[in-house]
Amino acid sequence: MLKNYLKEKRELVDTNIELHLNRLEYPTVIAEGMKYSVLNGGKRLRPILLLMVLELYGKSLNIGLPTAVAIEMIHSYSLVHDDLPALDNDDYRRGKLTTHKKYGEAEAILIGDALLTHSFSLIADESKEVAPEKIVQIIGKVSRYAGVNGMIGGQMIDIESEKKQVSLEVLKYIHTNKTGKLIKLPVEVGAILCDATEKEYQALSRYSELIGLAFQIKDDILDIEGDFEKIGKPVGSDLELQKTTYPSIFGIEKSKLILEETILEAKKSLEVFSAEKVEVFIKLAEYIGNRES
Ligand code: IPE
Ligand code: IPE
Ligand code: MG
Ligand code: MG
Ligand code: MG
Repeated sequence: MLKNYLKEKRELVDTNIELHLNRLEYPTVIAEGMKYSVLNGGKRLRPILLLMVLELYGKSLNIGLPTAVAIEMIHSYSLVHDDLPALDNDDYRRGKLTTHKKYGEAEAILIGDALLTHSFSLIADESKEVAPEKIVQIIGKVSRYAGVNGMIGGQMIDIESEKKQVSLEVLKYIHTNKTGKLIKLPVEVGAILCDATEKEYQALSRYSELIGLAFQIKDDILDIEGDFEKIGKPVGSDLELQKTTYPSIFGIEKSKLILEETILEAKKSLEVFSAEKVEVFIKLAEYIGNRES
């Protein structure tokens, strides 16, 4: 069952995150704030995706765990900054006070910076069983997908698009980058670690693009229809800030149809693999469409 699979992998990821973060002590507010911001009940979708690719190829999970943890740290930093008053100005995340509400704004900026920069040292220093040229390739990809041509680019256009209607093309740019790139990242890193063939790499990459888009469409829907207790963050935040989202352009029913179509396409994109080998990927795509948190 997918639920048990996700739980088991989430626990493995959490153990490894703790292992790395517990080594940090000083400055206390940064060390504590990093732990607070990462070890607070996230779904761990991104690191789990990396582990799923390793399992697909029968590789040891150890080769990918440092990068999996690093990607979760980058994702968590993106949330810390996303919630700041200057960005989305939200008070709750993962069911708890946001990092700036707990530690202060300047501290939250620095805690985010520390998570981002620390993640690179994890990949470089802890990926002991990985060939150096692969580590360099991975670090390059992580920085590209997290930065101006990735998550940050998407976040910038998201902010610029508040209080106005933008074209579908711009909305796609926002979703593909602010959310899509950090979901594509672990899948492509996994494919690199496993020496996937070009055809397999392209299939996995396409799958991750589609589930990334679906994930953000669902996030937009949950911002309207979600339950605070389940999503752990405020409902109605997008409406309040007049964000451009799938529902703001298409309405909620059409957005749900687009979501379904995107999930279907994601499932089809893995046809180069035998169906039983990618069962968990298919189940995960369905879960993304049905999730309530
Ligand atoms: C939230 O990501 C931000 C988006 C990109 C939509 P998640 O929904 O994966 O958040 P956590 O990590 O489970 O809290
Ligand atoms: C967030 O998009 C994407 C990030 C890079 C953090 P949202 O602003 O919609 O994410 P939530 O809804 O606050 O989690
Ligand atoms: Mg945002
Ligand atoms: Mg937000
Ligand atoms: Mg959102």
